[in-house]
Amino acid sequence: MYDFGLVGLGVMGQNFILNVADNGFSAYGYDLDDEKVEALKTLGGDLDKVSASSNIKTFVKNLKQPRKIMLLVPAGKIVDGVIESLLPHIDKGDIIIDGGNSFFTDTDRREADLQVKGINFFGAGVSGGAKGARRGPSIMPGGSKSAYEHIQPIFEAVSAKYNGEPCVAYLGPKSAGNYVKMVHNGIEYGLMQLTSEIYDVLKKGGDYDNDELHSTFAKWNSGRLQSFLVEITSEIFEQEDDLTKGRLVDQILDKAKQKGTGKWTSQNAMDLGIPVPSIDVAVSMRELSALKDERIKADALYDRPSVTHMDKEKLEELTEKALYFSFIITYSQGLHQLADASKEYGYDLDISVIAKIWRAGCIIRAGLLADITEAFKAEPSLPNLLLSPNFVDKVKETVGAARELVAFGAQNGIPLPGLSNSLTYFDAYTSSKLPLNLIQAQRDYFGSHTYERLDREGIFHTEWED
Ligand code: 6PG
Repeated sequence: MYDFGLVGLGVMGQNFILNVADNGFSAYGYDLDDEKVEALKTLGGDLDKVSASSNIKTFVKNLKQPRKIMLLVPAGKIVDGVIESLLPHIDKGDIIIDGGNSFFTDTDRREADLQVKGINFFGAGVSGGAKGARRGPSIMPGGSKSAYEHIQPIFEAVSAKYNGEPCVAYLGPKSAGNYVKMVHNGIEYGLMQLTSEIYDVLKKGGDYDNDELHSTFAKWNSGRLQSFLVEITSEIFEQEDDLTKGRLVDQILDKAKQKGTGKWTSQNAMDLGIPVPSIDVAVSMRELSALKDERIKADALYDRPSVTHMDKEKLEELTEKALYFSFIITYSQGLHQLADASKEYGYDLDISVIAKIWRAGCIIRAGLLADITEAFKAEPSLPNLLLSPNFVDKVKETVGAARELVAFGAQNGIPLPGLSNSLTYFDAYTSSKLPLNLIQAQRDYFGSHTYERLDREGIFHTEWED
C-alpha cells in the first residue's frame, strides 16, 4: 500500500511524485493517459516506491487509509470531474488535495460539498514550476486543520527548505490556501512587470546590451534584490538563440499571455476595497501587450521623444533602488490584500507564516521576504508593510530614485507604469490629506450623496448654488 496518491501525471505531477518518493514516502499515480503512466513507472523504477495506473479503482485500492490524494490537473471543470470520478471509490475520512490554481470560491464550494460526504478537501497552492515540484516547492495548504496532520509529514518533507525550515504550513480553513496562492501570483505579476520596465529603461536610457544586462541583474542578485525572478532574468539575457545565433530574448514576441490568477487578484482586491495598483497595472500591461497590431499602427501615428541617455553609473544606481522600492510596494499591496481577505473570509491568516513559506521554493522568493517575515512577527496585525518601523528606512533610502526614474521615463517616452503606480501608491498612502474632499463635494452637488466634515461629526448635505 502506498502513502500518497497523485492524479495528473503531466510534468508537474510526475515531478511531484518523484519528489515524494525521494523523500522516503511511497507514491502511486493516476492518469487516463497510458503513456504518462508508463513514463512514470519507468522514471520511478529505481526508486521502488513509485507506481501508477490508468485505472481509477486500482489507483484508489493501492492507497493507505486515510487516503491522501493530490490533484495536479488544470483548474476548472476538470477538478470537478476528477472529484466525481474518485467519489464512488473513496471512503469517509479520506483527503483530496487540489494542488492547482483553482479559483478560491470553487474551492469553498468543493470543500462544503465534500464535507457533507465526510471527505476532507484541501486547496493547496503549489509554487515553483516544474523544477520546484521536483526539488522542493513552496506549498500553501488550506482546509480542515485536523486532517492536515495526515498530510503534514509528506508536505514538510517534499517542500523547499529555508535554513532547514519547510516552506509549507497550514494556512487556514476553506479556500485560505488557494487565496494565498492567488495573491502570490498577483505579486508575481507585479514583480515581473517591474523587472521588464527596468530592462526597458536600462536598454533605452543607458544603451545596455544583453551582456551588460546579464551582469547587472547578476550583481543585483547577490545584493538586497536577491530573488528568483532577478536571478532568472540575469540568465535569460545570456541565452543564445539556436536559430539566429543572437540572444533569444530579442526574438521573443512582446505579447505576454496569462492564465488568470493575476486578474483574479486585482478583481478580488476591488471587491474587498483594497488598492493594489502595482498588480492592477501588471495585468493591464499584459492586456496592452496583446494589442500588438494596434500598437504598431499607433506607433506610426505619434512621435516619441528622442531618449536622452543617462550616465550608466547613475542609471544603475537609480534602477537598483527603484526596483527595490517598487518590490517593497508590491509586496505591501499583496500582503495588505491578504490581511483584509483574512478578516472578510474568516481565514485567520498569519502573514508572518505566509512570508516565511515564501522565502524559498516559490516564484516570488526573495531575500526581502526574510525582512517581511520579521516585520509581521514583530507586529502580527500590521495592516501595511509601509507602517512597519523595519521598512521606513529602506523606503526612505530608495523612494527618491524611484521618483527620478519615473520622471526620466516620462520625459523620454519610456513607459514605466509599474514603477509609477508604485510611487503614486506610496505618495497617496503616505498623504494625510488627499484631494478627495472635492469628489465628495461633487457627489453631493450633483446627486445629494452627502459628505462628512473635518471639523465636526455628522452627515451633511448642501443645497449648492448654481
Ligand atoms: C507558480 C506560478 C504558476 C503560474 C505561472 C503562469 O507559482 O509556480 O505562479 O502557478 O501558473 O506563473 O502564470 P500565468 O500564465 O498567468 O503568467
